[in-house]
Amino acid sequence: MRLSTVILLIIKNITGILTLFSPNCVLPPMKCPNDNITFWLYTRENRNSPVELKAMEPESIKTAPWVKDAQIKILIHGYTGHKNFSPNTEIRPAYLECCNYNIITVDYNKIALEPCYMEAARNTELVGMCTAQLIDEMVSKHGFRLTDFHIIGFSLGGQIAGFIANYLKAGKLSRISALDPAMPLFATMDNRKKIDSGDADFVDVLHTNALGKGKLETCGHADFFANSGYSQPGCTRTENQTFNTQEQNLVKDEQRKKPQSVRDLLKTGSCIPAPYRCPHPKMQYYLYTRTTQEKGELLNTLDNDSLTRSRFNTKHPTKVVVHGFGGGRNLSPSTDMRNAYFARGNYNIIIVDYGSLVKEPCLSQIEWAPRFAAMCISQLVEYLQYHPKKAVPPEKIHTIGYSVGAHILGLVANHLSEGKLGRITGLDPTIFFYMGNNRSRDLDYTDAHFVDILHTGAGILGQWGPNGHADFYVNGGSSQPGCAHDTIFQTLSCDHTKVTPYFIESITSPVGFWAGPCPNLFSYLIGWCEPKDTEYVLMGEHVTHKARGVYYVTTNANPPYARGFPGKNRKLRSISPYS
Ligand SMILES: *[C@@H]1O[C@H](CO)[C@@H](O)[C@H](O)[C@H]1NC(C)=O
Ligand SMILES: *[C@@H]1O[C@H](CO)[C@@H](O)[C@H](O)[C@H]1NC(C)=O
Ligand SMILES: *[C@@H]1O[C@H](CO)[C@@H](O)[C@H](O)[C@H]1NC(C)=O
Ligand SMILES: *[C@@H]1O[C@H](CO)[C@@H](O)[C@H](O)[C@H]1NC(C)=O
Repeated sequence: MRLSTVILLIIKNITGILTLFSPNCVLPPMKCPNDNITFWLYTRENRNSPVELKAMEPESIKTAPWVKDAQIKILIHGYTGHKNFSPNTEIRPAYLECCNYNIITVDYNKIALEPCYMEAARNTELVGMCTAQLIDEMVSKHGFRLTDFHIIGFSLGGQIAGFIANYLKAGKLSRISALDPAMPLFATMDNRKKIDSGDADFVDVLHTNALGKGKLETCGHADFFANSGYSQPGCTRTENQTFNTQEQNLVKDEQRKKPQSVRDLLKTGSCIPAPYRCPHPKMQYYLYTRTTQEKGELLNTLDNDSLTRSRFNTKHPTKVVVHGFGGGRNLSPSTDMRNAYFARGNYNIIIVDYGSLVKEPCLSQIEWAPRFAAMCISQLVEYLQYHPKKAVPPEKIHTIGYSVGAHILGLVANHLSEGKLGRITGLDPTIFFYMGNNRSRDLDYTDAHFVDILHTGAGILGQWGPNGHADFYVNGGSSQPGCAHDTIFQTLSCDHTKVTPYFIESITSPVGFWAGPCPNLFSYLIGWCEPKDTEYVLMGEHVTHKARGVYYVTTNANPPYARGFPGKNRKLRSISPYS
């Protein structure tokens, strides 16, 4: 391949990533002070007429109407917020009612606008850096005491507080309070990149929009779960505040429309309704066999007879399929996948149908919901494991999950009391569901005897992997044509249209998707990788469980996608998938 083609490909990849979001989304240079981040002083005397503070303009600090020796509260809003938006509009009056504090509100609205959640999240580091600059100036040049500062960050602001700590030269902050720190995109193991107990002498975290204690990541010295972290009674709500009470959710459920923006996603209308126990009435297991291809049999994990009565046959391989957001047993790709398996032979295929449960991603449960689903699915696995008449050990079960379903399967392992799943196939798991710093909360090779992962959108949703025993990158593993969208919602709900057809075709393909090992994308794109014939493995259903490491495979642009064995002396990549 000529170098110009490579460059063109790379540019196409990059623009694919950029066009995911509005062209108005900006990542300003990492420079402070920054016009897009402003600081406003409020005191009892000037509740409604804040005075702007400029870190590098000593006069602005010197002449501001400070309350002498009073504590300084720094309030940092979240995504799409600004200085006159909730929770600033509630916290400020409450503090001033209580005490004569100096309150500094950080306003970074211009770089946290909808629909730019990705950029807003990445801009938190810049906001943290510039806020640290202001604090450093105040402490070093104007005689303020670092111990008087208390940082209060809401949602993304909670993460910003963590960055302030990283950039602050004056010393260690004495207190950070994070109110429902935002999770999406803070899916990192790197404590420098998120709020944690190392960021101040005391970090208290208040969780209000998640469920029950112990089901949440804790990240501070003290984590508070107000009213068990959900559905706050009588909380003050402003018009556009993101968290609603449960009753409202039920009403919203009725008249639900598709969310169009991240703000819509933050509404809890698409979240899992009570009761929060397994089995959940809206999470159903449908068994399909060759003789019941058309109409699945509903399995009841509370009743052993239900499996006994069904066509479940322990002699046949068992597949458990977990779809992504917006899926369901009667929707493609679940139906196509069943057809492909039954075209080949006899299987017990159990579709985990939570289609009516989580229709759209519900960001306020984004961390909790997959764990809850995993808990219920582990109940299904144990139901099969300990069944008196038709027992199947987890080792004999092959689970297949796409998108969030892949992540859910990675969490099932945490709940199994004995045994380990035989195989997990992850179809384009997304980084959105990789949260926290605990590997037992991710899909990785420890979760089953064999974990194979197919990546088609890795470039879109961020860097991650390799995570399985074998990771397959299809056509470079990034922006497959047809999966780039304007808004984060479309990206999230994009079912990674390309990955499931590849997997489904692999079940019946007479030629197969032969993938070769290659250390990195660049070598692959340039065509430097020339694996030996013996190094190729089949990707998909018929992968050898001995496969280890990272493999690349190129497909045709249209079905049939599989290109068969590349043959002797063929380079791993010979034709651009975009051409
Ligand atoms: C502020 O944000 C705008 C976009 O809203 C951007 O064009 C500009 O470069 C930013 N300014 C600075 C100083 O970063
Ligand atoms: C709330 O949202 C609506 C439309 O989504 C907008 O017209 C209104 O100005 C917003 N109100 C506040 C206080 O931001
Ligand atoms: C099913 O049978 C197993 C083994 O006899 C038993 O441990 C389990 O409690 C039974 N489950 C139900 C729901 O009755
Ligand atoms: C990680 O998570 C698992 C399961 O939730 C838990 O048992 C374990 O203690 C956690 N490990 C750490 C280091 O937090």
